[in-house]
Amino acid sequence: MKISEVLNCSFSSWYPRFKDYTIKSQILPLPQEFVDYLLADQVVLPEGTVAMSASDSDTEDNRNTEAPSFPEFEVLLKNTIKRLGGQVFPKLNWSAPKDATWISFDRTLKCTCTSDVYLLLKSSDFISHDLTQPFKHCCDDENLKNETSVKYELVLRKWQELNPAYEFRCFVKDNKLIGISQRHNDMYYKFIPENRQEIISDIQAFYYHIVKDNFPDKSYCFDVYRRCQGKLLLLDFNPFGRVTDGLLYTWEELESDDLLPADDTQHHVPEMRCVESPSGVRSNPYGAYAFPKDFIDISSGDDPAKLIQLLQLKTQEQNGTVSSDEESTDYPGT
Ligand SMILES: Nc1ncnc2c1ncn2[C@@H]1O[C@H](COP(=O)(O)OP(=O)(O)O)[C@@H](O)[C@H]1O
Ligand SMILES: [Mg+2]
Repeated sequence: MKISEVLNCSFSSWYPRFKDYTIKSQILPLPQEFVDYLLADQVVLPEGTVAMSASDSDTEDNRNTEAPSFPEFEVLLKNTIKRLGGQVFPKLNWSAPKDATWISFDRTLKCTCTSDVYLLLKSSDFISHDLTQPFKHCCDDENLKNETSVKYELVLRKWQELNPAYEFRCFVKDNKLIGISQRHNDMYYKFIPENRQEIISDIQAFYYHIVKDNFPDKSYCFDVYRRCQGKLLLLDFNPFGRVTDGLLYTWEELESDDLLPADDTQHHVPEMRCVESPSGVRSNPYGAYAFPKDFIDISSGDDPAKLIQLLQLKTQEQNGTVSSDEESTDYPGT
């Protein structure tokens, strides 16, 4: 996997080309102060949302204890949430903060105000990964990896109630669709094995007509959502390599020639893997994230202030004392 392949999978690289086939989204360039805020090792929400001082043990480093302030970005964020219907799904260039849903009331990534976005981004290891080591698994020269700079962006996508049974990950190697896997492989969905042929042919058609000649690399993965027969929505692109979860495939299989078609016909039917019976379910891949790192810090006495801050924020949010898009909390027809 190369740096260029990782860059081609970043949201702003593929979105303009696939706009008509994916969920409506807005890309906001991140100001450096916001990136610094995300990387700072504590949860203090920006001024205007709620300003709380950090733990007393941090007083030596006053720089860190000041509530950050980026009023212009805050306004932009607020307006964008409103413009997308009041409910959004946040991610950075590559990753969504899927490991941080424990922090939200409904355990989803749905955000309706700026502090929802801040909390999720700040609580996620996946987001830190995007910010600190996006090219960690690339085979390029170390110097190049360190020198390649990334323009960070916050992506807000219009919130959609997605049925996890309709999501699939597709693996493309050397311009051939070599495999399809159900996206949420910790569940048995009767619907999938029952509709195997239709699902495969829909995905195959989508790949040939929409994706194949419009993506710059020869090997990559893409995620699709099959709303109903013949109606597919593109969700995301990911690099072809171990940074991407192979789901019901191992990367040994994907990288070997085992899944390639025996001859070179265009009409080769790719394999699709799904959980075939209720007993075939594996453990939840995010199980490790169910117990948040912050709580581990807290239980080891490292940072009790963090939990107090989070709870205070949540209480204030519930009481409506945190400034948020109050006007847009009611979303007729979205
Ligand atoms: N706009 C959206 N609204 C609601 N859920 C979404 C939306 N976009 C993606 N999701 C859900 O979040 C999951 C992860 O999204 P994705 O963009 O692939 O992030 P990542 O690359 O970090 O896995 C998807 O599989 C889908 O279930
Ligand atoms: Mg992805």
